[in-house]
Amino acid sequence: MAPLIDTFGRIHDNLRVSVTDRCNIRCFYCMPETGVKFEAREKLLTFEEIERFVRVAVSLGVRKLRLTGGEPLLRRDLAKLIRKLVAIDGIEDLALTTNGVLMAQQAQELYDAGLRRINVHLDTLDRERFKQITRRDDLAKVLDGIDTCLRLGYGPIKINAVAVKNLVEPDIVPLALYGRERGIEIRYIEFMPLDSQGLWDKGKVLLADDMIAMLTREIGPLREVPDRDPRAPATDYEYLDGKGKVGFVASISRPFCLNCNRIRLTSDGKFRYCLFAIDETDMRQLLRGGASDQAIASAIRGSVHDKWLGHEINTQRFVPPPRPMYSIGG
Ligand code: GTP
Ligand code: 5AD
Ligand code: SF4
Repeated sequence: MAPLIDTFGRIHDNLRVSVTDRCNIRCFYCMPETGVKFEAREKLLTFEEIERFVRVAVSLGVRKLRLTGGEPLLRRDLAKLIRKLVAIDGIEDLALTTNGVLMAQQAQELYDAGLRRINVHLDTLDRERFKQITRRDDLAKVLDGIDTCLRLGYGPIKINAVAVKNLVEPDIVPLALYGRERGIEIRYIEFMPLDSQGLWDKGKVLLADDMIAMLTREIGPLREVPDRDPRAPATDYEYLDGKGKVGFVASISRPFCLNCNRIRLTSDGKFRYCLFAIDETDMRQLLRGGASDQAIASAIRGSVHDKWLGHEINTQRFVPPPRPMYSIGG
């Protein structure tokens, strides 16, 4: 079958599926502290519906799959879903993005189900700042979760740290050293306008170049990894001494939409051709309304065909998406 190609010639083979919008922490750049309204349970896609959708997407050329949330480990019996998804012929890479709080508890079960690759969200190694950012006192659990995954043989493990200016500057170097010691790549993510409270403005983004300068000064010289995947959101750098890597997801200072290969399915079954998309396609209605695989495939194709060139964060035209991060899946 023809690949999932858009009008700009980009081929989409990377699907991110959110399995829940719930979360057990409350990072300020994503969620408000209280009063979050989550989707009713019956609106979430069932595992059977997710599996069917993924199979159709695979028939259209999807090869990389990532489970996201909210916090995906809050979805009951997640290991069962992972077992179903790794068994799909055509999936070459299955990974999970998690905040790590429940990882120590679930790492073995998920590993047994076939999961090998996780990206853990962690902004700081400082207990007080962790509390300030997430409004929870769970740093020790996250670190324990990472240790457990290292022990079990997960790999590669990556850490995602959201870079907010005038806040996390003291964390950049300690995180990088923590990663270097453990063979974990730290990826610094420029703060994006996806928070639910409209807190974002460009002045609050800690930019990739500033972080690169900091790391170079405090740890040692870096160079861009020569054979990096041009379609990955992170630009990877390696230390010249050969010990480890760091990455930068620089959506603001170095937008990477021209190489985008990603599509998304929200936990309530909406298909999104972009993280920042305004329009969505209701796949749950199709999945529950007796639509054929072919009808689902053409709905996917249609949406990808309509995909825009990319976000316009750096222009006056930018309109934030109607859902915050936890409800899109990152
Ligand atoms: P790998 O396969 O490990 O490279 O995964 P990944 O980096 O694609 O996934 P992850 O969920 O760890 O994403 C890291 C960060 O990049 C998160 O903050 C995402 O929201 C952000 N990100 C992922 N895809 C996109 C995208 O298409 N556009 C933008 N602007 N940000 C993205
Ligand atoms: N800007 C940038 N990254 C964010 N994340 C959550 N909210 C934001 C934001 N406003 C990241 C987290 C998580 C990933 C899915 O999205 O680090 O790992
Ligand atoms: Fe792709 Fe949209 Fe992300 Fe740009 S912002 S890289 S178009 S998903």
